Amino acid sequence: MRGKLVAGNWKSNGDLVANRRLLEQIKASVSSMPGVEAAVCVPYPYLAQAQQILGDSSVALGGQDVSQFGLGAYTGAVTSTMLADFGCKYAIVGHSERRSIFGDLDEVVAAKFEAARKAGLVPILCLGESLQERETEITESVVGRQLDAVIAASGVASLSRAVVAYEPVWAIGTGKTASPAQAQAVHAFIRNKVARLDAEVASGLKILYGGSVKAGNAVELFGQPDIDGGLIGGASLVADEFIAICRAAVARA
Ligand code: 13P
Repeated sequence: MRGKLVAGNWKSNGDLVANRRLLEQIKASVSSMPGVEAAVCVPYPYLAQAQQILGDSSVALGGQDVSQFGLGAYTGAVTSTMLADFGCKYAIVGHSERRSIFGDLDEVVAAKFEAARKAGLVPILCLGESLQERETEITESVVGRQLDAVIAASGVASLSRAVVAYEPVWAIGTGKTASPAQAQAVHAFIRNKVARLDAEVASGLKILYGGSVKAGNAVELFGQPDIDGGLIGGASLVADEFIAICRAAVARA
């Protein structure tokens, strides 16, 4: 049993007051969910606050990105060891906003994945196609290429302690969710691709879906055989929504 993971990606949102309210509500409602882990990936400056509020609760903490480099002269970069120092379990790498706005190429994403892994973090590797790529029917080659870059750099065994998130770019923040069947098809493609290299790693790999997940569509999405939870953007900023999404995962765990 892979279990389910529901991870909030707060992106560049939050302040000390709003975070406290949100984190306290999440902590109070989502501890002890059988078969489901909840996580929040908060902006770097709030990691200390989140670590302190979540304390020893079962809610895990993550960074939204990580430097591909170690300690040193890399102004503005946050290393994987720093994330680990603040209690992070996860680090998102290759989010489409990092790829498209900040220019993170496949090789950079692979280096970030490796840096996170080396520090003992669990990378959440985001993969996904743009609308144009879907319309020209190259979804599988795009997602496959993004995944191959990581496998080439870190080996397929590295996926035994990693999470993959399929996030179609056209579904992020648009209110346009991939249908459960559309998402399932790509999730199955990812799992089969990994299975050709290592069946055991593939069967244990959590593959999350991300892109306009809400309480109203989570049960159906999480009911698909290869969807192991969600990476949640906008809805993770609203306590009731995020908690309801976690409960949807419990229903499908
Ligand atoms: P939304 O849930 O806001 O569409 O964002 C998804 C996402 O990008 C999570 O990483």
